[in-house]
Amino acid sequence: MSQSSKIDGKSIAEGLRSQVGLAVSSLRNEYDYVPTLAVVLVGSDPASQVYVRSKHKFTRKAGMHSLEHKMPEDVDEDTLVDLIKTLNQDDSVDGILVQLPLPKGLNTNRIIGEISPSKDVDGLTEISAGRLVLGRAGLHPCTPEGCVILARNALAAQGEELSGKHCVILGRSILVGKPAAMLFLEQNCTITIAHSRTKDIEEVCRSADILVAAVGRPLMVKGDWIKKGAIIIDVGINRVPNKDINAKRDTKLVGDVDYDAARIHASAITPVPGGVGPMTIACLLRNTVIAACNRHGWHVPINL
Ligand code: GUN
Repeated sequence: MSQSSKIDGKSIAEGLRSQVGLAVSSLRNEYDYVPTLAVVLVGSDPASQVYVRSKHKFTRKAGMHSLEHKMPEDVDEDTLVDLIKTLNQDDSVDGILVQLPLPKGLNTNRIIGEISPSKDVDGLTEISAGRLVLGRAGLHPCTPEGCVILARNALAAQGEELSGKHCVILGRSILVGKPAAMLFLEQNCTITIAHSRTKDIEEVCRSADILVAAVGRPLMVKGDWIKKGAIIIDVGINRVPNKDINAKRDTKLVGDVDYDAARIHASAITPVPGGVGPMTIACLLRNTVIAACNRHGWHVPINL
């Protein structure tokens, strides 16, 4: 039986990051300007620490400035809001990202709501979300934007395009599910959002030409949930016990999709890790360049 092709998010992200690097050089040459991304990390969640370290590393690799603001788990909410206000007012800062989830007790909506929409490189403020729904230009959330790019790439390799495809999105989070629906709709896909209360969820998934899984439940999507030839975009990053007795570590990362079973049915599928994850960071870097250009009224160099 033929197996699907692996969608190489790592190399597609590398390509986008090198485009961002060229755009950054062009801003440096033309305006003597280097964009700056400020990332705020509250508490010591291990996964968030890894993500923030990665964002820092790739921001610098792309030639931009990276600022890290670390706050203790028990930080006072007003102190955090004051930090966001300071970053809003700092003219050298182009992008602000508050790593989520925030520790319990902090009001995420209030804190995200303080970010100036012009610096909202995560695309999570009400203004950014409103622009996305209205189909206006703006900063789009990074993970869903990465999903669209990967799906478009996989289809292009088959001589196909997104327009007209049925895209089923599993999950309705503000970070992924909801904005992904709007972005795929913008590409003229037909959209279904499925979630924990959806009836006959397996059948809904089987109707997808493109299946985006973003529920955070390890290996939930089985092989027989997948239509022959579908494109699978797995957003899940779940740490589970490693049952392989020869493995070096006692845990491993798996997605929301049973990869080995899904490969038999899908035409293309993202691996975990190495699929959507690297795209999130590449899209964040792109947003930072776009935010810098928009704030200064500059044309975005290179077709990012
Ligand atoms: N935590 C996991 N993914 C993300 C993301 O894309 N943005 C933020 N702010 N936090 C996250």
